[in-house]
Amino acid sequence: MSARGLGIVGWGAAGRLMAEAVSRTSRFHLAGVADADPATRERAAQETGRPAYANAEALAAAEDVEIVYVATPTASHVSDIRAAAEHGRHVISEKPLAATFEDARRAVESTERAGVSLLVGATHSYNAPVEILRGVVESGRLGELVSVSSVCHTDWRLRSRSVVDLDASLGNGVVLRQGAHQIDVLRYVCGGLAETVTGTTFGGSGGRELGFTAQLAFAGGAQASAYYSGAGGFDSRLLTGGVGELGTLDVVPTPELARFFPPPSSGPVSPVFGTLVATFTAGGAWVAPSGVLLVTPERVFEEAVGGRLSGWDAVLCEADAVLAGRPAVHSGRWGLATLEASLAVHESDRAGRRVELVHQVGVGRPSQQS
Ligand SMILES: NC(=O)c1ccc[n+]([C@@H]2O[C@H](COP(=O)([O-])OP(=O)(O)OC[C@H]3O[C@@H](n4cnc5c(N)ncnc54)[C@H](O)[C@@H]3O)[C@@H](O)[C@H]2O)c1
Repeated sequence: MSARGLGIVGWGAAGRLMAEAVSRTSRFHLAGVADADPATRERAAQETGRPAYANAEALAAAEDVEIVYVATPTASHVSDIRAAAEHGRHVISEKPLAATFEDARRAVESTERAGVSLLVGATHSYNAPVEILRGVVESGRLGELVSVSSVCHTDWRLRSRSVVDLDASLGNGVVLRQGAHQIDVLRYVCGGLAETVTGTTFGGSGGRELGFTAQLAFAGGAQASAYYSGAGGFDSRLLTGGVGELGTLDVVPTPELARFFPPPSSGPVSPVFGTLVATFTAGGAWVAPSGVLLVTPERVFEEAVGGRLSGWDAVLCEADAVLAGRPAVHSGRWGLATLEASLAVHESDRAGRRVELVHQVGVGRPSQQS
């Protein structure tokens, strides 16, 4: 089968990462790029050798485009998704799906009306070790899932940030930008159906938070917690062999730190987003870049990531499967549910109480199942 044409809207950090993934697969080819900024558009045309358009609508109208990847700032997702859907194009949207729940719902409905598919990613729930952990949960081989914790320490808030970058009403700030990853991971591992969220933010107000905590209760009884600090002071990559969210070796410990944090091991690694630990009635699991360490009273063994895909490569794999008629895990409704849970962190923080969720959807099937 010939490669499907994929167009990218937004030639920024995410757009470029998707272009790299497209260059690694034979299932898609880059059909064109769109960017609102003329200089960036010019650069995109030069770098890719593909046509560059001014906006999502012009890109979606191009004959060769079958699927549009929306990687514009979050507040623009709803109009870009709608433009692509109205041209009958399938859509992959970056996370978070939109800046507000209503925008996200409008985006989902526009694709449903048009009869096209919508995927939301690349969140870190696409990472290979998370996929392995979900498989362990589904298999029941460690018994029932009891709890999952996701902890991430970064310097997100110390990096230079514009006012827009910190504005929760535009889909930004730590909870919506980073929580979109952690909460998506926790929903995926726990089966998707979060019932309540209790959240707090810390270090600021008005969307300028340094970090957050969230406790999620899931149908079936599993409990999950997310802790994210973007305040600096500690780097979670020291705990994951120096590997970070792009699957690259980013941090090599100094000789003093190497006493506590061993240097990275060799072999295939996946991106990881801080540390992720799950407990079961008959054991436990620790997510590492090289795979998942499974611990039972009898033995300790690793399920390695091997050749499994992560990140944008895994998004393209799911898109390929969905366009071939298989159901999606990271669907528009899934992305809406993750946004609902993320927004509930702010709501819980403001109101000082637990928030009930009503738009959750379950995991249909593992995303890389063949
Ligand atoms: N999955 C991940 O790990 C990940 C990583 C980075 C960003 N993101 C997400 O991707 C999205 C983009 O973030 P980024 O960091 O790449 O942004 P960015 O600022 O680096 O790039 C955005 C690009 O979009 C262009 N643009 C803005 N409005 C536009 C419009 N209406 N039409 C066409 N082009 C437009 C800008 O000129 C810019 O070149 C956000 O939703 C963000 O949350 C996800």
